[in-house]
Amino acid sequence: MSEEISFESVLKNPIYKNREMIYALNPPTGLLHRTEQKNELVMELAPILMNSAVSCVFVYGNPGTGKTSLIMELGEKLNGEAKKNEINFNKIYVNCSENRTETTILIDLLSQLNPNKEYPRLGWNRAKAIEEFTKEINKKEENILIVLDEVDYALKESGDDILYRLSRINEQNHKSKVSTIIISNNLKVADYIKPRTQSAFGRVKVIFTPYNAEDLADILRDRVKLSLKPNVCSDAVIEKIAEIEAGRGGDARRALELLDSCAKITMAKGSSKITLDVVGEADANLENNSVLNTVASLTKHQKILYLTMLKNSKKVMIGGDVFKEYLEMCKQYNTEPLTERMIRSFLVNFTEVGLIKSEVGWLQTANKKIRKITFNLDKAQFKKAEKLLRDTI
Ligand SMILES: Nc1ncnc2c1ncn2[C@@H]1O[C@H](COP(=O)(O)OP(=O)(O)O)[C@@H](O)[C@H]1O
Ligand SMILES: [Mg+2]
Repeated sequence: MSEEISFESVLKNPIYKNREMIYALNPPTGLLHRTEQKNELVMELAPILMNSAVSCVFVYGNPGTGKTSLIMELGEKLNGEAKKNEINFNKIYVNCSENRTETTILIDLLSQLNPNKEYPRLGWNRAKAIEEFTKEINKKEENILIVLDEVDYALKESGDDILYRLSRINEQNHKSKVSTIIISNNLKVADYIKPRTQSAFGRVKVIFTPYNAEDLADILRDRVKLSLKPNVCSDAVIEKIAEIEAGRGGDARRALELLDSCAKITMAKGSSKITLDVVGEADANLENNSVLNTVASLTKHQKILYLTMLKNSKKVMIGGDVFKEYLEMCKQYNTEPLTERMIRSFLVNFTEVGLIKSEVGWLQTANKKIRKITFNLDKAQFKKAEKLLRDTI
């Protein structure tokens, strides 16, 4: 590829209508092929609208089977119904790959229950977090739905205490009624749940099966309409992508990524139609993405540090701040931090291997020189890097 690409030609692209739609968690057209799971969950969750707590619901299925999207969609629907019927409802969502201990999960829950209050991420021990949480659910009379997503990370890292606590919470007659959904990418997670908690979380299980080629083709077809211009992507291309991904475990996220990658390559070629050949090329490209390979090869603490920076990418980071945020991240991952000196040397190293760009600039408000950190990643890569880090730390 040696033809020059200009911004102008990219903006006039003949491919994308709305690229964001490829990655939308809840597309306006809704989720396809999940009626069975949806019906089961509606039946289980409906009592919340009658002011009654539901038993613990356990949702599991491979990555990319629509678990998070469907729970989010139902949370919104519950919210809408609750408003219509004047029921106090509050859904709070925690991703346990980001918060892996009972303390950090409780603090995350608290900061959502009480968004106006600042909770110290560092310095609270478990007893304090439990005390505050109990106080909070006694303050208001609400029907609280707690969603613990990717709960497998918390279970592996710090056991099932949080689940046990939540499974017993309504026995104490708090003013609020607490319902809990746990979501896991991994069925083996049951091995990490002790029998005393199994009895609560083992009863209602909703299983998200992998998509087959036809399901994936329908999902892709729907997204193609939302995100690409007409006639860019033929049905043959859709079917090829669907077949590849069905053979690999039926992951809709991967299928959508492959579609996006096809579109990008086609655009770079200056063409306006995705060909069958491009599918193979795009697939190979995704497999050997060099930034992601570098990220994958980092050590645990380097990964925690890189994730810290990705999380804070919107604000200007100043040398010392990076370390402070890193300490906080270690807490979330239940890990002893390294020294500030080590972290500084990692930063130099990241710049050398091209993971970050760091420029020295002037911070007006503080009237001093700062080192500003930026990334070489586009939005899709950014998300992937974040996911890869969370999965492997
Ligand atoms: N049945 C479906 N219909 C349409 N899009 C889907 C469906 N299942 C998954 N997706 C899309 O695939 C991506 C991954 O779904 P997600 O809910 O995050 O999966 P999981 O939580 O099971 O890993 C999201 O962008 C989502 O919108
Ligand atoms: Mg998910």
